Amino acid sequence: MAERTLFIVKPDGVKRNLVGDIVSRFEKKGFEIVQLKMFTFTKPMAEEFYSVHNSKPFFGELVSFITSGKVVAAVIEGNNAIATTRLMIGATKSYEATPGTIRGDFGLGITDNIIHASDSKESFEKEVAVVFK
Ligand code: CMP
Repeated sequence: MAERTLFIVKPDGVKRNLVGDIVSRFEKKGFEIVQLKMFTFTKPMAEEFYSVHNSKPFFGELVSFITSGKVVAAVIEGNNAIATTRLMIGATKSYEATPGTIRGDFGLGITDNIIHASDSKESFEKEVAVVFK
């Protein structure tokens, strides 16, 4: 069933010139790129985007990091997009992510974990409204 999801190459991924590699993985997997843009999160946008985490001890660090540089956001479409994209990005803690996943191949960080992707239809709808408004 065709479904849409959103991913964001975080500031560490952009600074390390990983945008092409990452977008390419999703294209080669068979997803269609529906929307794509580079921008920098403002603090209010980041606080809204990550509002589900606003009571967590790492919230301040998370907002500070995601606003620290340019990001690339994409809406992609294809079968089972939300769950398949989560499999492709790997575990949140990059040092635990399975090799072959994006975090598993490219990183070691937690806050700086290269890529974000929506974890549910509800998250996608909320996140796409913040990023592509
Ligand atoms: P992301 O998929 O963007 O969703 C929330 C982010 O919080 C997560 O990736 C991590 O970058 C960040 N984060 C920072 N510290 C933690 C932590 N201790 N546990 C989970 N996520 C964390």
